[in-house]
Amino acid sequence: MRILFLTHSFNSLTQRLFCELSERGHTVSIEFDIADSVSEEAVALFQPNLIVAPFLKRAIPESIWSRHPCLIVHPGIVGDRGPSALDWAIQEGESEWGVTVLQAEAEMDAGPVWASSTFAMRRCKKSTLYRNEVTEAANAAVLLAVERFAAGNFTPRRPESGARGRLRPLMRADDRTIAWQRDGTNRVLARLHAADGFPGVPDQLFGQPCRLFDAWPESTLRGTPGTLLARREGAICRATADGAVWIGHVKRPDQIKLPATLAFPEAGALPDAPLAGWWRAATPTWQDIAYEEAGDVGFLGFDFYNGAMGSAQCRRLSEAFRWASTRPTRVIMLLGGEDFWSNGIHLNLIETAASASDASWENINAIDDLAEVILRCDSHLTISALQGNAGAGGAFLARAADLVWARAGILLNPHYKNMGNLYGSEFWTYLLPKRLGLEAARAIMRHRLPMTAAEAVSSGFYDACLPGPVPAFRVDVARLAAELAAAPDFVDRLAAKRARRAADEAEKPLAQYRAEELAEMRRNFYGFDQSYHVARHHFTARSPHSWTPRHLARHR
Ligand code: COA
Repeated sequence: MRILFLTHSFNSLTQRLFCELSERGHTVSIEFDIADSVSEEAVALFQPNLIVAPFLKRAIPESIWSRHPCLIVHPGIVGDRGPSALDWAIQEGESEWGVTVLQAEAEMDAGPVWASSTFAMRRCKKSTLYRNEVTEAANAAVLLAVERFAAGNFTPRRPESGARGRLRPLMRADDRTIAWQRDGTNRVLARLHAADGFPGVPDQLFGQPCRLFDAWPESTLRGTPGTLLARREGAICRATADGAVWIGHVKRPDQIKLPATLAFPEAGALPDAPLAGWWRAATPTWQDIAYEEAGDVGFLGFDFYNGAMGSAQCRRLSEAFRWASTRPTRVIMLLGGEDFWSNGIHLNLIETAASASDASWENINAIDDLAEVILRCDSHLTISALQGNAGAGGAFLARAADLVWARAGILLNPHYKNMGNLYGSEFWTYLLPKRLGLEAARAIMRHRLPMTAAEAVSSGFYDACLPGPVPAFRVDVARLAAELAAAPDFVDRLAAKRARRAADEAEKPLAQYRAEELAEMRRNFYGFDQSYHVARHHFTARSPHSWTPRHLARHR
């Protein structure tokens, strides 16, 4: 079928559906919801059999839904309606939630249902729920709805009158506020989680208005409710009525989202509460890099908000990796976050730096240093285990490990071109051609579109795709890593790795690959062409789209 996506943006859920429907032989084209006339034009040009709206912020115009079948993906259970479905579900502590695919009609989210899927709720950020459970459920429901539509013998039905779901209003700032003197940690976390990603909880820090994001529970620090207790790296800790929480990120009015201590330099006066070493703390606290061991395998976990890796984070992770490689283990697993393994250099930090060019240069060097530490490790076999998505430099950084194992269902965007035609670094010119050949490496860099983990494996870019939700994936990769460490040929494999690296170094030193890539990056950062700076500005400001890029709008 010819399927047109009408969507607010090409977000991760839209990307997933794009890949899955394309893999099933459908021709998918995309138009961003910019203006009714633009959507009407897209429909006229593409002549779709079916229109799907994976992520819309307003209704489809009647001129379209009255003439073409339009399926809306609503992140709520059957019967639920309204623009804040997930926010209410999290804040009100629903134990089960779901996704419904329904036909567009005059009344929003009220049309007949083509398919639905449910999942168990858990205590996590809205953005994490969206990128995991919601995406899986939406994928299942959309594939079923499309199958039913194609078969032509399914009649969608309206929800029965006793359905649990109901119409709920837009969640307003007043619904989200935290009463720090009164609210306990569970309630505070529910409010922060319900607002994560966007729009954040409206509050005040140091007497200034801001929005709070990225909450983590704290189990030992205590103080007068509402007071700020401590800082650690970019995060600050605040007392609740019965405990404390960490706040990793904040957004001040008219500024972009930043680590809390950077947005409020006043936080520098708070007592520092560093963790000793890299071991995972025994009780919950804010910890973005955490090391654990099981037998011969060291698990180096890192969970950076939005997968963005600033210079300091890259340096700390390099240090942690060096330390992990001194441990009496055989395998080191680089286990990134649940939402993202890595999305490369930290564009928000760069955007707010005094010199964006200098900050970009420092960050790309720091991430290259990290890639180099992993590449040069000759004491261990290394594995990148991707439970979450990876994009741009992050997708290539993962390849610096000997093996890359990805969870089925994650999305990869292994290209730099969408960020103002960046050339890219992280040793991709060494890593890709060696594995894929020059032409296939070039094709990946030109591609601009997302790929699934299965595609990455079939192209030879990654090594294995393992099924499952995140907990099952973690169990699987831990078992496989333990098998790798215990295998009779482990010593031979390690020796072969050392020999391969030495031969590669003799053929062309890593330093040369790096210098060549960085010469191109220097032009991107400091040269006449400002595309990267313009693209980064719009990306970090979350500027609305004014047109759909041509590689997505195939009908244009
Ligand atoms: N630096 C800072 N923030 C980043 C980031 C980066 N490298 N990559 C993603 N983010 C942030 C986004 O700003 C967004 O922030 P929010 O909390 O305000 O929503 C959040 O992560 C999620 O990103 P989004 O684009 O909505 O997610 P997605 O799953 O739809 O798309 C990517 C994923 C990777 C395709 C997209 O985020 C992207 O292009 N990132 C930039 C990658 C890049 O060019 N890095 C620099 C070169 S190495």
